[in-house]
Amino acid sequence: MSQSVPEPSSLRADRITMAYQDRIIGEDLSVDIADGRFTVIIGPNGCGKSTLLRSLSRLLRTRSGTVYLDGKDIHRSRAQDVAGRLGLLPQTAIAPPGITVFDLARRGRYPHQSILSRWSAQDEAAVHRALAQTEMTELADRPVDELSGGQRQRAWVAMVLAQESSILLLDEPTTFLDVAHQISLLDLFAQLNSDEGRTTVAVLHDINHAARYADDIIVMSHGRIVAHGPPVDVLTPELLAEVFGVEAVVIDDPVNGGPHIITRHRTRIPASVAPTREEAP
Ligand SMILES: Nc1ncnc2c1ncn2[C@@H]1O[C@H](COP(=O)(O)OP(=O)(O)O)[C@@H](O)[C@H]1O
Ligand SMILES: [Mg+2]
Repeated sequence: MSQSVPEPSSLRADRITMAYQDRIIGEDLSVDIADGRFTVIIGPNGCGKSTLLRSLSRLLRTRSGTVYLDGKDIHRSRAQDVAGRLGLLPQTAIAPPGITVFDLARRGRYPHQSILSRWSAQDEAAVHRALAQTEMTELADRPVDELSGGQRQRAWVAMVLAQESSILLLDEPTTFLDVAHQISLLDLFAQLNSDEGRTTVAVLHDINHAARYADDIIVMSHGRIVAHGPPVDVLTPELLAEVFGVEAVVIDDPVNGGPHIITRHRTRIPASVAPTREEAP
């Protein structure tokens, strides 16, 4: 019987080196983001999660290696093509002063417009759908800079959803949200993923949310990917001790049967910051 060769995924990094000026954050990193799955990235503060998402979304040019989107070097693709295909929710985003929630969400439609095309009924519908999905409809006319942290976060999520890209890269989408809004947003991402097959990559800090929602977990440490696979394979006490410096017990989640992590105590302070090195001049 012939073995079929798996198709390469639509978004992948091939031996990339990520750096800011002369600071190398991660070297020789390769990763395939599985199409149509919900991937969660976890790792200590400063280990390079945001830097990886920026690299995968073309925001940060890699020092070497290549990010491929649909088999093509992402830096050789037109910005508008990339934006139509892939939406990024950055970890820290600053809205233009005074912009309303509606106008921020509207910006998610920019990649779909050209000089010739007018604002269409389809654009309008996408914005309204995104506002409804994030429960922001009633706040649509409010200036973003007058909202609470959680509401502001949902306004940004609305912008990314309005983009209607088939790949979503979400950097800490649930930070600042109360527990109900965290769960409703994660449920929404899970639903978009399962119903519409949108490839979703989210950085989360809550390991049990990662365990519950992820098809695949990527664990980063010191600018490297140290594990990548289904939660049950990845979330072991050994890995949690090694990466986070936390002693933990892993039990079966009484709700869905997956792994559930109960932390016992910290065994050491995680070496959170990626070991950066200065390049030789
Ligand atoms: N714009 C930047 N310029 C220089 N160094 C940066 C910049 N952004 C992040 N870093 C550094 O890169 C490393 C990884 O950061 P980041 O990817 O934001 O980590 P994480 O998202 O995992 O918390 C950290 O040491 C951080 O200080
Ligand atoms: Mg980050």
